[in-house]
Amino acid sequence: MKTYEPITEEIVGKLKKIVGDKFVWTDEDHLEQYKTDEETDPRKFHRPEAVVAPASTEEVAAILKLANAARFPVTPRSGGTSVSDGAIPVCGGLVLLMERMDKILEVSPEGMYLKAQAGARTGDVQQAARQQGLFYAGDPCSADSCLIGGNLATNAGGDKAVRYGTTRNQVHAIEVVLPNGEIAHLGTRSKKNTTGYCLDQLVIGSEGTLGIITEVTLKLLPQAPYKSDVLAIFTDQDKATGIVPVLLREGLNPTSVEFMDNAFVRASSDYSKLNLGHYEDGSYVILTLETFDEEEMDRKLIKLDELCQANGAVEVGMADDRVWTLRKNCLESTRVLSKVMTSDDFVVPLDKIARTINELSREAQNYPFRVFTLAHAGDGNLHFSILKGDLSDEEWEQALDAFHAKAYQYVYAMGGKLSGEHGIGAKKVKQLAALADPGELYMMQTIKKALDPLDILNPGKVLAVY
Ligand code: LAC
Ligand code: ZN
Repeated sequence: MKTYEPITEEIVGKLKKIVGDKFVWTDEDHLEQYKTDEETDPRKFHRPEAVVAPASTEEVAAILKLANAARFPVTPRSGGTSVSDGAIPVCGGLVLLMERMDKILEVSPEGMYLKAQAGARTGDVQQAARQQGLFYAGDPCSADSCLIGGNLATNAGGDKAVRYGTTRNQVHAIEVVLPNGEIAHLGTRSKKNTTGYCLDQLVIGSEGTLGIITEVTLKLLPQAPYKSDVLAIFTDQDKATGIVPVLLREGLNPTSVEFMDNAFVRASSDYSKLNLGHYEDGSYVILTLETFDEEEMDRKLIKLDELCQANGAVEVGMADDRVWTLRKNCLESTRVLSKVMTSDDFVVPLDKIARTINELSREAQNYPFRVFTLAHAGDGNLHFSILKGDLSDEEWEQALDAFHAKAYQYVYAMGGKLSGEHGIGAKKVKQLAALADPGELYMMQTIKKALDPLDILNPGKVLAVY
């Protein structure tokens, strides 16, 4: 296990020289604030020794050069919305905030792209595109609070990935500061590219372990003029999940196909002070269609209604924004029910999602915790919110480990993976090491060692500290 050097007064002085006196903190409040992200279990918190907020790529580079020279770890932090302990400084050292680098640099309607600094808020990126009549398709559930660089770093997903793919599909190019402080420009706006290794895509989704993304060039799309949200309610969960493959096979090309089990319907309805029907016994499937043609929308809506009815929906109706309020409040609605909770993020091939939701949510009932089931069902991504409630630490750990052991085995037998969108962070390092293909793990470790021989950048994330 690596040992690092402490951040001394002298180093703090050097950091202040790089970013200015006002943007380096070592006071109690800051160290307390950045000991966690969305993690709720105090046993997982780690305080940094200092916090820094650079304003430019060059400053980020200078900080990483200093970190290598003085051997202290650096944990980059974007919006701090990770549910995988992605922003926790598990080895101490420095937390590097991206929030001052928040500018939208250019929106090009002709080139259909947008350039921004990595600390721009995702919601602001979406809005800047809309102002030019265009559309940025990346849309994690935390879009109002997360930052675009963090979205790229974690390959964030969300509820539009069914039609548009995840964040990595929205990116032309990136600027990145490598662990040793070198600056690299990766990717291109050209449609085709077979010019060497695909390094932009390697860094995207590497969770800040291979570099700190400082600038992004994103793809923009034409905004589809017709959009409809439909809520289909089922009183039989198996029928609700069974509709998913049917919808995907029928060529409706939905933007979203979201599933909420009845426990989530209740929790989020209570939290949001809404009741959209069948509060007591309904599972919800939320569907979004987008088209460029009104008649096409009409045709698709009729087809959708027929399919839902034929597959056992007890109610199918047009929905308004309330349905998305309900959906987006899901995680928060369970957080308020238990001080400590965790959220799983399994992903399986699409033909296995219905089975996986049903079998694992049934399996979860055998444990002493409360479980709520949610799925970006249209892209095979499944979340369980699991609540500790008043279990002791030992009971919680034992039950969670037992459930996870079964769930991982099941998901991998289905051809699935540990994480569809939340990433590995510090939370699932052991599980990744156990479940990854040996060749895959070897490549990951070798790349990390080559780019970051001193394990300075975001140590303890994705891979164990070596
Ligand atoms: C969601 C977050 C938990 O889907 O990914 O609500
Ligand atoms: Zn999600």
